[in-house]
Amino acid sequence: MALSFFFFIFFSILQIPLFSTATLHRAPLFRPQFNAQLDHFSKNDTPTTFFEVTNPIKVPKTKSCSYLVLKHDFANTYGRSPILTNYIPPSNCPSKRFSKIILEWKATSKGRQFDRIFGIWLSGVEIFRSCTAEPRPNGIIWTVKKDITRYSSLLMTNQTLAVYMGNIVDSKYTGVYHVKIFVHFYPADKESILGDLHKGFGSGGADLIVPISRNLPLNDGLWFEIENSTDVQSKEFKIPQNVYRAVLELYVSFHENDEFWYGNVPNDYITVNNRTDIPGNGAFREVLVSLDDVVVGAVWPFTVVYTGGINPLLWRPISAIGSFDLPSYDIEITPLLVKILDGSSHNISFSVTNALNVWYVDANLHLWLDKKSVKTEGKLLEYSSLPLSFSLASNFTGLDGSFVTNAHRSISLTGLVNSSYGTVTTRSSQSFSYSNNMVMGNNANLQIIDQKIDFNDTVYAKTRSSSVQVLESFKKFQFHMYSDGVEIGDQSSVSISNVTLIFDEERLKRSKYGSSASSVHNLQKAQGYMLLKDQSIDSGLGSTQQTYKYDDDSDCYFRNISSSNYTVIYDKVNK
Ligand SMILES: *[C@@H]1O[C@H](CO)[C@@H](O)[C@H](O)[C@H]1NC(C)=O
Ligand SMILES: *[C@@H]1O[C@H](CO)[C@@H](O)[C@H](O)[C@H]1NC(C)=O
Ligand SMILES: *[C@@H]1O[C@H](CO)[C@@H](O)[C@H](O)[C@H]1NC(C)=O
Ligand SMILES: *[C@@H]1O[C@H](CO)[C@@H](O)[C@H](O)[C@H]1NC(C)=O
Ligand SMILES: *[C@@H]1O[C@H](CO)[C@@H](O)[C@H](O)[C@H]1NC(C)=O
Ligand SMILES: *[C@@H]1O[C@H](CO)[C@@H](O)[C@H](O)[C@H]1NC(C)=O
Ligand SMILES: *[C@@H]1O[C@H](CO)[C@@H](O)[C@H](O)[C@H]1NC(C)=O
Ligand SMILES: *[C@@H]1O[C@H](CO)[C@@H](O)[C@H](O)[C@H]1NC(C)=O
Ligand SMILES: *[C@@H]1O[C@H](CO)[C@@H](O)[C@H](O)[C@H]1NC(C)=O
Ligand SMILES: *[C@@H]1O[C@H](CO)[C@@H](O)[C@H](O)[C@H]1NC(C)=O
Repeated sequence: MALSFFFFIFFSILQIPLFSTATLHRAPLFRPQFNAQLDHFSKNDTPTTFFEVTNPIKVPKTKSCSYLVLKHDFANTYGRSPILTNYIPPSNCPSKRFSKIILEWKATSKGRQFDRIFGIWLSGVEIFRSCTAEPRPNGIIWTVKKDITRYSSLLMTNQTLAVYMGNIVDSKYTGVYHVKIFVHFYPADKESILGDLHKGFGSGGADLIVPISRNLPLNDGLWFEIENSTDVQSKEFKIPQNVYRAVLELYVSFHENDEFWYGNVPNDYITVNNRTDIPGNGAFREVLVSLDDVVVGAVWPFTVVYTGGINPLLWRPISAIGSFDLPSYDIEITPLLVKILDGSSHNISFSVTNALNVWYVDANLHLWLDKKSVKTEGKLLEYSSLPLSFSLASNFTGLDGSFVTNAHRSISLTGLVNSSYGTVTTRSSQSFSYSNNMVMGNNANLQIIDQKIDFNDTVYAKTRSSSVQVLESFKKFQFHMYSDGVEIGDQSSVSISNVTLIFDEERLKRSKYGSSASSVHNLQKAQGYMLLKDQSIDSGLGSTQQTYKYDDDSDCYFRNISSSNYTVIYDKVNK
């Protein structure tokens, strides 16, 4: 048996259990239900605190007004309606002007459970996508805070809040997730009010956010589910006629046969080796977004590893980069406003190149309105989207070999919008490059993956008076894995895996008000082994070292932390 496939590909999130095959085309032949925890290991009775390393959110020095918006125990929630509640904006807060709004997710669980993906939506607008931590018999606690200030316009009016997490509790998988969701409103102080005045045109939160997600009622998350490479999911929407800026924000996550898409093998390898039990379509994926059937942008996602991924012991208590707060991705579509300012309905649609079942994708359309006019006008000046450039070099004999995949894409849009702010010409471009080197050895017990994604976004806006505003984002995502497995008889095997994750982003902003820069360098290295017996982890060890560095013009934060066998070994923070 090819152990590395066994461990790497089928180990983690069991979104949909084997006994419920409603949305599975077929159950993989040998998808094991591993115990997601080590019973032998956790006899201490204090709960373990899990966390993702990130920089603390900078808040004004004002006292926040905090509200508990939902308290719920997620037990058998799979295939049921999301939990719905009426969201009401702050009513008893002395201030009505907030410069920071923070979502806080607090959860506990005890027992045994898989990692579950979940999302939070406000009237269809997704504000948070995340993955649960896996409980232990002694219990676990985790808290995630997210800056949701960009959703201010929604947060200041009544909405329906929806939370979907597909959990299943039975006699073996006993973990119920006990959840509290808070929203903290920080009244603006003098400094933040001054800051706002100097941000310039089209900055600050959008005036209106249009959901590009599935409508309730649903017995599922509001995300679209993309099941294969030809599956296109779309949503009709309408916008007001006085929009002067539009940004589409995408949330994406990958599951089941594509949970580890970056380790999937080409289909000819599957055919030649007669291995219908392993996921194929190669190791390249991209999410494509179209507006009325024209590609307007793409997302080449970061390789988020969920808390049960590869070897669950690697992510305890430090969870993998992005797993507790999945990144969303912005695409500036202002140059294309002319296509949708006509007051009629249009479609935004999503597809995933080479997709296997299943991708969860939805988006929020952030719109800025011209308050001094009822109609803005646009014109598309240039559209350029070259076809994907893609190459794959395969070299394998039997189950061993190597695969080298490279891909590039660039999309660029230029258009102008006339509004009471004048005529602004916006050029928005995205460029991507991808490389994946994969080696298979020891009869595919050994798998080595080296993947790099380079993801650049640039927005260049120019007014008549030649005042220029530039926003640039340079992202570099890396995934490296070495994984080996050996059968040791007696239905047992040993697997070792070393994983490196890198999430780097530099952002630059330039306008007549000045320029600013910020950067994140987030590096995680993890090593571990597992002894598996009867498809359960019998023993094992996971260790993680992480450095997180954030810098901007007024702030810097550096954390150097490591854990091993559930214990933090060192934790140094410099501010
Ligand atoms: C918002 O909801 C509250 C509580 O249900 C209600 O009293 C209030 O009238 C609503 N506000 C609006 C603008 O509908
Ligand atoms: C792809 O998925 C869609 C949506 O589920 C389905 O209708 C279609 O038949 C699938 N195509 C293939 C080739 O499996
Ligand atoms: C391929 O695998 C299937 C299912 O395991 C088996 O029935 C079939 O005989 C195999 N074909 C070859 C050519 O080995
Ligand atoms: C949106 O897409 C749907 C499904 O493809 C189609 O029926 C509808 O006519 C489209 N609407 C517009 C405005 O293009
Ligand atoms: C293919 O693999 C064989 C055996 O490992 C090796 O000798 C050969 O150089 C490889 N060819 C390429 C193109 O990588
Ligand atoms: C935008 O405004 C300028 C100057 O007012 C005018 O010359 C131009 O025709 C307008 N363009 C569009 C697309 O409305
Ligand atoms: C992204 O931008 C950087 C800095 O300009 C450049 O070195 C890199 O080649 C760009 N990558 C892509 C894919 O365009
Ligand atoms: C994996 O990590 C272990 C522990 O740090 C180390 O001893 C081993 O050399 C690593 N293996 C590889 C292939 O990087
Ligand atoms: C993090 O701390 C460890 C242990 O003290 C040290 O070996 C390592 O060099 C530090 N890393 C950085 C980037 O400072
Ligand atoms: C991990 O820690 C537990 C006690 O908390 C201990 O029993 C176990 O031996 C340790 N495992 C390893 C591999 O060091």
